Amino acid sequence: MNSLVCTHPGKFEYKESERPVLTPGNAIIKIRRIGICGTDLHAFRGTQPYFNYPRVLGHELSGDLVEADGAPGFAIGERVTFIPYINCQECIACRSGKPNCCVNIKVCGVHIDGGMAEYYSIPSRLLLHGEALSYDELALIEPLAIGAHGIRRAGVTPGEFVLVIGAGPIGLGTMEFARIAGAQVIAMDINDNRLKFCKEKLGIHYTVNALDDAKQQISDITGGDMPTVVIDATGNQKAINSALQYMAHSARLVLIGLQKEEISFSHPEFHKREATLMSSRNATREDFEHVITCIKKGLVNPLSYITHRADFNSLSVEFQNWLDPASNVIKAVATL
Ligand SMILES: NC(=O)c1ccc[n+]([C@@H]2O[C@H](COP(=O)([O-])OP(=O)(O)OC[C@H]3O[C@@H](n4cnc5c(N)ncnc54)[C@H](O)[C@@H]3O)[C@@H](O)[C@H]2O)c1
Ligand SMILES: [Zn+2]
Ligand SMILES: [Zn+2]
Repeated sequence: MNSLVCTHPGKFEYKESERPVLTPGNAIIKIRRIGICGTDLHAFRGTQPYFNYPRVLGHELSGDLVEADGAPGFAIGERVTFIPYINCQECIACRSGKPNCCVNIKVCGVHIDGGMAEYYSIPSRLLLHGEALSYDELALIEPLAIGAHGIRRAGVTPGEFVLVIGAGPIGLGTMEFARIAGAQVIAMDINDNRLKFCKEKLGIHYTVNALDDAKQQISDITGGDMPTVVIDATGNQKAINSALQYMAHSARLVLIGLQKEEISFSHPEFHKREATLMSSRNATREDFEHVITCIKKGLVNPLSYITHRADFNSLSVEFQNWLDPASNVIKAVATL
C-alpha cells in the first residue's frame, strides 16, 4: 500500500509498504478521507514539540471497515471513523474514566504513525459507527469533538455568554458546541477574515477583534457583566495571559489551545473573581457521540469548514501550499 511519510521537517515522501495485517483486538480501515489539522502543519514545519521523524501524519480519518477482530456490532464494509487516541486502559486517568488524558497516551500521527495511508490498523474498541454520515463529515468529527469536550468541561448552561478566543478550526467547533449548549457566543480573533467566517458561515452574532478596544466591546455586549465562560482556542501565550481580563466574577477559563511557555496572570485579579481555570485535552467517546448526534440533527454542518481539497496522490504538494497563511485554509481534506 501507499503511505505518505514525513521523513524530516519540510519533507514528504510516498512509500510503498505492506498493508497492515489483522491482529487480535484490532480493526483495519481502508482510509477514504484525511482531514488536515494544525498539528500536521506544525509537525511538517518542525515546530511541534516532542515530535520524532520519520512519521506518518494524520489523525482526522474516515473510511471503510475491511477487517476486524473484537468489534461486535460492526459490519465489514461499514463506513467508520475512530477515536485516534490510544490509551493504556490502566493508568490513573484511564481508571478514572478519562482516557483522553491517559498518562501513556499515543495519539495517532503524533506519537505513533497516523493515517496518511491507504490502510490503517487501530484497536477495535476505538471504532465509531459511521451512522449514514458521509466520509467528509466523519473525518471532521475529531476536531469538532475537541470543542465539544471543552464546552462540556466548562459546563456551559443556556443563556450564558461564552467568549471563544481564536477562530481556527478548533475555535470554530468550540463556538458551535457553545451555541448548541444554548450559550450566547462571542468570537474573538485578530484576523478579520476568520471573524467574517464566524459571522457568515456560523451565524455568530458577536465578533470582536482582540486588537480593537476588546474589553470595552465585550463589556458592552454583556451589559457590563463580562462572559461567565472564556475559552482559549488560540494556543497563543499573549492571548492566554490576557484572557483573565475578559472574565466575569465567578467565571471559568478553559484552555483548549496549547503553547509551550509558562502562563502567568495577576493573582489578585484571579482571586477577586473566584475564577476557575481548567485545561481541556482531546475528547472522549461521549464527546464524539455528541458530535455525531448533532450532525445527524443538522445542528452543526462540518462541510462548511472544508475550504480546500486534494487527492491523496497530490497531497504532498498541496499540503505545502496550505502552509501559506495567504491560502486562507480553514479545513483541508485529502481524498483516497
Ligand atoms: N485540546 C486539545 O486537545 C487540542 C487539540 C487540537 C488542537 N489544540 C490546540 O488548539 C489551538 C487552536 O488550533 P487551531 O488548529 O484552530 O489553530 P489555528 O492556528 O488555525 O487558529 C488559531 C486562531 O487564533 C488566532 N489568534 C492568534 N493569536 C491571537 C490573539 N492574541 N488573540 C486572538 N486570537 C488570536 C489566530 O488568528 C487563529 O485564527 C492550538 O493551540 C492547538 O494546539 C488543542
Ligand atoms: Zn486534529
Ligand atoms: Zn492510561
